[in-house]
Amino acid sequence: MTSLDLYGAAFRTDPYAELARLRDLSWHAQTAIGTAVLRHAEVQQLLQLRELRTPGADFLALQGITDGLLVDTMRGFLLNTDGDDHARVRRLVSGAFTTRRVEAFRPVVAGIAAELVSALAATDRCDFVRDFAQPFALRVLHTFVGIPLSADVQQWTSDVGLLFGMDVVANGDRITTAIAHLDAFLDDLLAQRRAVPRDDLLSALVTDGRLTDVELRSMVVTLMSAGQGTVQHQLGNAMATFLANPEQWRLLGDRPDLAARTAEEVVRYCPSALLGVPRIAKSDVTINGLLFRAGSCVLPVTGAANRDPLTFPAAATFDITRSGAPHLTYGGGIHFCLGAALARVELQESLPRLAAALRAPRPDGPAEWLPPTEAVYGPTRLPIAYSTD
Ligand code: HEM
Repeated sequence: MTSLDLYGAAFRTDPYAELARLRDLSWHAQTAIGTAVLRHAEVQQLLQLRELRTPGADFLALQGITDGLLVDTMRGFLLNTDGDDHARVRRLVSGAFTTRRVEAFRPVVAGIAAELVSALAATDRCDFVRDFAQPFALRVLHTFVGIPLSADVQQWTSDVGLLFGMDVVANGDRITTAIAHLDAFLDDLLAQRRAVPRDDLLSALVTDGRLTDVELRSMVVTLMSAGQGTVQHQLGNAMATFLANPEQWRLLGDRPDLAARTAEEVVRYCPSALLGVPRIAKSDVTINGLLFRAGSCVLPVTGAANRDPLTFPAAATFDITRSGAPHLTYGGGIHFCLGAALARVELQESLPRLAAALRAPRPDGPAEWLPPTEAVYGPTRLPIAYSTD
């Protein structure tokens, strides 16, 4: 069997080149964590299989943490639940997180994008991550959910996010403290929204009344961690890709009607969810003739499947006029991204505005990137220079 060294230089330096090399050899490759699935047909199939589940607290168990607050917190996140527990909470949240609510929110997203773009247009260089992608994703998410923006809340959310890493033992005290602070903060906020509901997601969930306070707190933390870094890094990846494809940037600047196609093409071509969310076999299961024993781990490698030449014509070409591309960046099956409609609106409202205002953007110093093994992949620093005439 071919193997993918997730921690080796080839994958770290150019993950797409390494994934393309392996995908040409076979639809699957062995990694230290489990089997990476690399082609579109098989990734699509595995995302639908009910014999597979998301990892829950399995990665904590691998680090020797098998019970207590951290395990309970981890198991409470929607993405980590399965079966009836998942179906019930997902149904209730979907009832509030509707396309209608997202569409009604579109002008707010457009306003936040316009404000940040005009600040960029007042100068001729910026760090695209610090000055646009990060504040845009953060402000949109907090406004949509109804969480006041504060440095404390950001810090606590980011500390709780450490639960998804592989240094949980070392970070245990920090995570525990953050959970306690967030619980107190959210209890207070829930009481306020119950007393005086507003036009936001949290008020809709509180007013509905069918989620318990524990479920509500867990849902808010889920949304804050699932809806911020993903969008921020998706925007960073998009800008890095446009820097390498300047004719596509010019085209978008001239053709804002390509907004919807662009929003799909950037998530296909350079997904922030590069590796996808791993799955664990609940029972023995076969994919394309290969047996996965109960307990084995399977990685739906979105970044490879989205450029599979068996599915996409000219798969390695970034083309914002492409239509009907069935990329897998938002996952599939019961865990299909709950925030996909909001993410689409964010990309549709921001990228054409940026392309119209910032002419001929070019790198303006070295970029810095997260390692591609993180839950999300993208630049943490992306200095660019541009003209605005
Ligand atoms: C470009 C941005 C985004 C990307 C690439 C992304 C990607 C994903 C992926 C890969 C999954 C897992 C799907 C699976 O494995 O089948 C997921 C689930 C989820 N996402 Fe997103 N996401 C994005 C934006 C958002 C936003 C803006 C929100 C909320 C405001 C959000 C909330 C969620 C939630 C709650 C889940 C768990 C759903 C469940 O388990 O039922 N995401 N997302």
